[in-house]
Amino acid sequence: MTEHETLAQRLQQQGISRRSFLKFCAAMATMMALPPGSASAIAATLAKVKRPSVIWLSFQECTGCTESLTRSHSPTLESMIFDMVSLDYHHTLQAASGFAAEQSREDAMKEFHGKYLLLVDGSIPIKDGGVYSTIAGRTNLDMLLEAAEGAAAIVAVGSCAAFGGLPNAQPNPTGAVAVSDIIKDKPIINISGCPPIPAVITGVLAHYLTFGALPALDDQGRPKAFYGETIHDRCYRRPFYDQGKFAKTFDDEGARNGWCLYELGCKGPTTHNACATTKWNGGTSFPIESGHGCIGCSEPKFWDAGSFYAPLPAPTADVSTVAKAAAVVGAVAAVTVGAIDRGKKTQAQKSREKLTVDDLKGE
Ligand code: SF4
Ligand code: F3S
Repeated sequence: MTEHETLAQRLQQQGISRRSFLKFCAAMATMMALPPGSASAIAATLAKVKRPSVIWLSFQECTGCTESLTRSHSPTLESMIFDMVSLDYHHTLQAASGFAAEQSREDAMKEFHGKYLLLVDGSIPIKDGGVYSTIAGRTNLDMLLEAAEGAAAIVAVGSCAAFGGLPNAQPNPTGAVAVSDIIKDKPIINISGCPPIPAVITGVLAHYLTFGALPALDDQGRPKAFYGETIHDRCYRRPFYDQGKFAKTFDDEGARNGWCLYELGCKGPTTHNACATTKWNGGTSFPIESGHGCIGCSEPKFWDAGSFYAPLPAPTADVSTVAKAAAVVGAVAAVTVGAIDRGKKTQAQKSREKLTVDDLKGE
């Protein structure tokens, strides 16, 4: 295994134009809410960096995280980012199998010791010595401990790796836990979601490549640039919520009119993620736009938080205040409240508003 080429060399080999690359950097700067002008600094830095080795370990999971990442549009942000790193081991995506696959993982760990990025999806079963999930005859626990030792940083991709996920649901027969429950001496970033948004994964990788450090994190270890707001903060149905207009069933007049899904169990008010702005499938849609409430898939323990279709147990302050206000003084007052609320935009909100689908696509 030899030292990896620079990103500029790699992009040239792949026939990716400088214009596409600059567009990508501009989109990254916007998504991460970086100051104006930082796109060119990102481009200059990224062009010079050596593509880092990435080892991706898939443990107790459904492969949804990888499926999400591979839903690409040509050429995508996602495919570009994978030209930016050297993916040296990934069960699902690698061509090698059996002994050759394990050998490439061991070679990468040795050659790039202390420098490689370790990406993990899936939870780690620790009950009964971790026997409930093994790869090449070794437990996930054993493999994680070994790979984490030489990693520069660890990215826990998806709610299973970040928080334990569905395998952790009661009664948790395998003793499934999150990466951060086991590894305590390495920087860990959680990119939660079931699955996570592909552009968020690529955004975090781009940030790491550019600045050589993980981005600012929230109290759940998630990048603030993407998880700093709730779905509810940016939901396009929010004006209906503010007016107290709620769908009561999935096929009533309110549902047909696109009213708020709060009473149908939407967990948007308590869920932090970028779905309402970044969306899915190249910016096409997100669960609420498809007519279903948010189930809170990027939050810890969403799997044991009761029915997806039961309204949140206690209305948030916003609900009681704003919806009651709407009922009493009418829609005009509520719209005003909403306008005031929407007027308090963070820099991240303002920046993301400028991001269009086209920004995320290459040529
Ligand atoms: Fe959107 Fe759900 Fe909030 Fe209603 S409750 S505005 S559907 S996030
Ligand atoms: Fe998950 Fe809610 Fe987004 S269910 S995909 S965080 S809208």
